[in-house]
Amino acid sequence: MSNWKKRVQAGTLALAALALAAVPCLPRSEPGTARDVAGGAKIPAGPYVALTFDDGPKAATTSVLLDGLAQRGVHATFFVIGENVEGNELLLQRMAGEGHQIGLHTYHHKSLAELNASDFYAEVDELRATLGALLGQKDFMLRPPYGMMNAATQARAAAPIVLWSVDPEDWSDRDTERQVSVILDRAQDGDIILLHDIYPASVETALQVVDTLMAKGFHFVTVEELFAIRGKTPENGKVYRRLPPASQ
Ligand code: NI
Repeated sequence: MSNWKKRVQAGTLALAALALAAVPCLPRSEPGTARDVAGGAKIPAGPYVALTFDDGPKAATTSVLLDGLAQRGVHATFFVIGENVEGNELLLQRMAGEGHQIGLHTYHHKSLAELNASDFYAEVDELRATLGALLGQKDFMLRPPYGMMNAATQARAAAPIVLWSVDPEDWSDRDTERQVSVILDRAQDGDIILLHDIYPASVETALQVVDTLMAKGFHFVTVEELFAIRGKTPENGKVYRRLPPASQ
């Protein structure tokens, strides 16, 4: 069995346990709408979305975000830059310890489409090794900076490649009100939302979006959890932008 298959199965069991405990973020759904997993436990039918944060961690803003997500019982995914790991080791361990997923965003935020093989491995594998030593895990998903990639990127990745389906371009104006409205207009079951945890405005955007969409019945999960919910195993080198329910 592949490592990803094992991780996703473990994630499914954890989600089923959450559903059984009927915690506020996974309320009981209508009869007949939940999917049977893990020996009869139910996972609510959704909708589900994954918040993802690139370019961090940054102590001042990421810690505020982690506090806000913890208060709301929400898990997110962080695609981190290797340069930002040094000095933020405890923050990353806190992130992993609180149930968030951590992924690769290269060591120096390089466009992977423009790198030769040895530079590619320096950017990706060194970060994988650094995070592996820090967090005690081997498998990390990859988000290419700028979403730039090609066939060589896919062949070299040794990781599932996670892009996004909702992008409010939060870097462009740091305007929480506009960003929130873009996300609320577009977010649907299975979407992967792109933000950056290095801007205070984006942290505020994320927390407002969580509050509004949770009130509408949305659940916020990590990308890995989204795979588990959909019953899909991520494949190395394959590109994922969203994970809609099977009926879509
Ligand atoms: Ni980036």
